[in-house]
Amino acid sequence: MDLGIKGRSAIVTGGSRGIGRETARQFLEEGARVMICGRNAESLEQTRAELAKATGGEIHAIVADMIKAEDIARLVESAKKQFGSVDILVNNAGQMYSGRFDVMTDAGLKEQLETKLFGFMRAIRLVYPMMKARRWGRIVNLIGGAGKEPDPYMFGSGITNSGLLNITKSLSTEFGEDNVLVNAICPGWVDTNLWRRNAQGLAAELGAESEEEARRRAARKNSLNRFGKPEELANAIVFLCSERASYITGVSLNLDGGRLKSLW
Ligand SMILES: NC(=O)c1ccc[n+]([C@@H]2O[C@H](COP(=O)([O-])OP(=O)(O)OC[C@H]3O[C@@H](n4cnc5c(N)ncnc54)[C@H](OP(=O)(O)O)[C@@H]3O)[C@@H](O)[C@H]2O)c1
Repeated sequence: MDLGIKGRSAIVTGGSRGIGRETARQFLEEGARVMICGRNAESLEQTRAELAKATGGEIHAIVADMIKAEDIARLVESAKKQFGSVDILVNNAGQMYSGRFDVMTDAGLKEQLETKLFGFMRAIRLVYPMMKARRWGRIVNLIGGAGKEPDPYMFGSGITNSGLLNITKSLSTEFGEDNVLVNAICPGWVDTNLWRRNAQGLAAELGAESEEEARRRAARKNSLNRFGKPEELANAIVFLCSERASYITGVSLNLDGGRLKSLW
């Protein structure tokens, strides 16, 4: 299927590994031009070079920390310089802020909110005028299931994620008449570094003896009884950013192998 985004320009924040990297790869395979960012210069450049070689596509990379407004401005400015405009924004960079209420700190929550809630909004604010001017835009926010179904262990992420779901729906309404579509993806557990960094804490939370046991117990909550793969997330992200998704906006898609059991 031709997704109809050949030549479109895309920013994927946090594209050096995990879900962002796979998303960048699939955009390149579709003929889109891509700008990725991350904080670690070495892994970012390695990914840029590998994806360029593997796909033959146009990919640029810039070191930028999405917690810093000035870095976000530099990222968008750099994309504008390379591509002339920005058609697609995938707000992906971020961490999970796990742990129950008793271990949550104000500083930790502020960092989470600055990176994901404010970081996503700041990037949207800068790309939207370009999308509006061309009457074509796609924005996808990577959020998370705890925004829909509060989980005591995901207290901090849940707060951030609920806000982001609200922002997604609200902006989809506001930007609709400009043909700028705004959607969200809510991943469950996906096999990336993020899961590995959280494995020990999750094992303690689930009373598991090992990382493997924690994985099995966490996966059992999913209808598909396994974790997701980054490429499975990218499949949906790239589709939502495509011409084929032209009538989809304001949606938050659960990509969690059936983890959430509620009706939305
Ligand atoms: N994996 C899951 O199970 C899961 C579940 C729910 C939601 N999510 C969400 O999905 C998104 C992607 O997660 P992932 O699993 O692919 O994570 P990951 O494997 O840890 O990759 C995260 C990417 O974002 C970059 N990044 C992190 N913080 C950044 C910052 N402040 N500024 C710029 N770049 C930053 C990382 O590079 P550097 O470290 O070099 O900056 C890396 O490229 C995140 O927003 C996460 O919250 C993931």
